[in-house]
Amino acid sequence: MNKELRKAVIAGNWKMNNTRPDTTGLIGRLKPLVAGAACDVIACVPHTNLETALKAAQGSNVKIGAQNCHWANSGAFTGEISAGMLAELGVRYVIIGHSERRQYFGETDVTVNQRVRAALDAGLTAILCVGELLEQREQEITGEICAMQTKIALSGVSKQELARIIIAYEPVWAIGTGKTATAQQAGEVCGLIRNVVANLYGKAAADALTIQYGGSMNPSNAAELLAMPDIDGGLIGGASLKAEDFAAIIKAAS
Ligand code: PGA
Repeated sequence: MNKELRKAVIAGNWKMNNTRPDTTGLIGRLKPLVAGAACDVIACVPHTNLETALKAAQGSNVKIGAQNCHWANSGAFTGEISAGMLAELGVRYVIIGHSERRQYFGETDVTVNQRVRAALDAGLTAILCVGELLEQREQEITGEICAMQTKIALSGVSKQELARIIIAYEPVWAIGTGKTATAQQAGEVCGLIRNVVANLYGKAAADALTIQYGGSMNPSNAAELLAMPDIDGGLIGGASLKAEDFAAIIKAAS
C-alpha cells in the first residue's frame, strides 16, 4: 500500500454554475475554511469565471482549474478555448474528458487524448476523467471500459509527463444522481486503473499517481471513500458549490 506516497487532491467541478460575484463569494468563504489543508484544493470553474477566481484565490492554497480545453493552439474552432489561453491566465489545472463532455458534446477517447496532449504541452496538469455507464457496469465490462479509456487517453504521454496527470474515476451512473459507488466498488476500479498505469509506466510511476473518485461524493460519504487504499482524492460536483460541504470533504481528505 503506497497511499502515503501520494498527495490527496480534492477538486471541485463547478460545471456551468455561478456568476462572477458568486465566484468571488464562494472562494472567499472557502479560503478560511481550507487554509492549512493537508491535501491540494482545486476549484474548476467556468471559463468566464477563471480570472475572477484566480484573483479571489490569490495568496491562498486554493488552486484554480478549467473544465475543458481544445487540442489546437489556435485556429478556426469557434467557441473553443486553447490550453495555452488557460496557461496564459495563470490556470494550472484542466478537467479533460468529463462524462458530460463525452455524453453531450461528442467527446471521444481520441479527442480526450488530443486534449490531454494539448494540456500537457501547455504546462497544465490534466484531471483526466474515465468511467463506465450503468449498462456497462451491468454487462460487467467496467474494468475493460476504464482500462480502454485510460490507455487511449494516455497514448503518447511520457512517464515524466505522467506526474502532471490526475485520473478521476467517475462512474457515470453516480454523477449528479445521489447514487454513490460503494467504497468497495470505487476502490476496486481505482485499483484496476492503477494496474493499467503500472503496466504502461511501471509500478513506481503508478504508485505516485493520484487517482480520485467522483460521483455524488459528499461530507457524509467522503471519509469512507477516501480511506480506500487506491482512492487519493475526489472530483466533487454538487457538493463543491457549498463552501461548508466542500470544506468538510477536504477535511476528510486531510
Ligand atoms: P457530482 O459530480 O459530485 O455532482 O456527482 C461529480 C462530477 O461530475 O465531477
